Amino acid sequence: MKKLYLIGMGPGSPEYLTVQAIEAMKKVDVFFMLEKEGRGKAELLQLRREILHRYLGDEGYRLVVATSPPRTLEASGYKEGVQAWHDRKRELFASLIGEQLRDGETGAFLLWGDPSLYDQTVTLVGDLVARAPEALELEIIPGITSVQVLTAKHQIPLNRVGESITITTGRYAETCDPSEIDNAVVMLDYNASFQRFREQGMDIYWGGYLGCPDETLMSGPLDEVLEDLLRIKAQIRKNKGWLMDIYLLRRRDEAHGEPSEDWSSPGRGQPLPREEP
Ligand SMILES: C[S@@+](CC[C@H](N)C(=O)[O-])C[C@H]1O[C@@H](n2cnc3c(N)ncnc32)[C@H](O)[C@@H]1O
Repeated sequence: MKKLYLIGMGPGSPEYLTVQAIEAMKKVDVFFMLEKEGRGKAELLQLRREILHRYLGDEGYRLVVATSPPRTLEASGYKEGVQAWHDRKRELFASLIGEQLRDGETGAFLLWGDPSLYDQTVTLVGDLVARAPEALELEIIPGITSVQVLTAKHQIPLNRVGESITITTGRYAETCDPSEIDNAVVMLDYNASFQRFREQGMDIYWGGYLGCPDETLMSGPLDEVLEDLLRIKAQIRKNKGWLMDIYLLRRRDEAHGEPSEDWSSPGRGQPLPREEP
């Protein structure tokens, strides 16, 4: 039997690791690290190495670095492209676990933020466990997400009273009807899709490289800060070569109508009839 941990390492600072994550790391024989192509790859790999150094020192475990398969555009379409990419990743995980982890040993992937948020490793490794449950045991250690760090740094709650919150991608923000969104965290946005939300009564809370030495924050009414934000993003990209950012778009209350806890406001949802006790 082999054991594999997927450990949420938080989104940047080594201080975001939980005690549970550190205790799990102490049991690991082999740490697998996937190197992604792209400008930030050396920095992101170095951060993981620093985490190991800080909590475990440099001995007592093996380190296996592999190149993550790049995502390619498939002529057949977006979904097919993602599927093909996931298939290649699953096969890479299978060969790493098969060839680099001995029977009776424990392996681990340190995953950025929390393993459940926009990270397919849980699904792909879960498929491998389903194929051979007698040979591979999986344990997932949750981590702090970039969403939590964004709201903590801006000192705001994630949701307003009684209101739902959407967590979505730049790809969605680029194509949705802006009037549909009241309160949304946007991740994986490579096209500054917040520009589509001009003149919508929106506030933005933006964070770049949260928890990292180059952390940058900006917030305010979107219409007022938009040009500055675009300029800052361009500047950072020019200096550093890559950018990892996340933001929350929130419709301002006056634009939003009555406070969301007032269920009787016109145009807002009516309360469900109370069940008889
Ligand atoms: C593939 S997703 C992984 C998210 C991760 N599992 C988490 O829990 O935060 C990567 C996206 O998360 C956001 N992100 C992750 N870490 C970040 C950080 N330190 N600063 C800003 N955004 C971050 C960015 O939107 C980035 O495009």
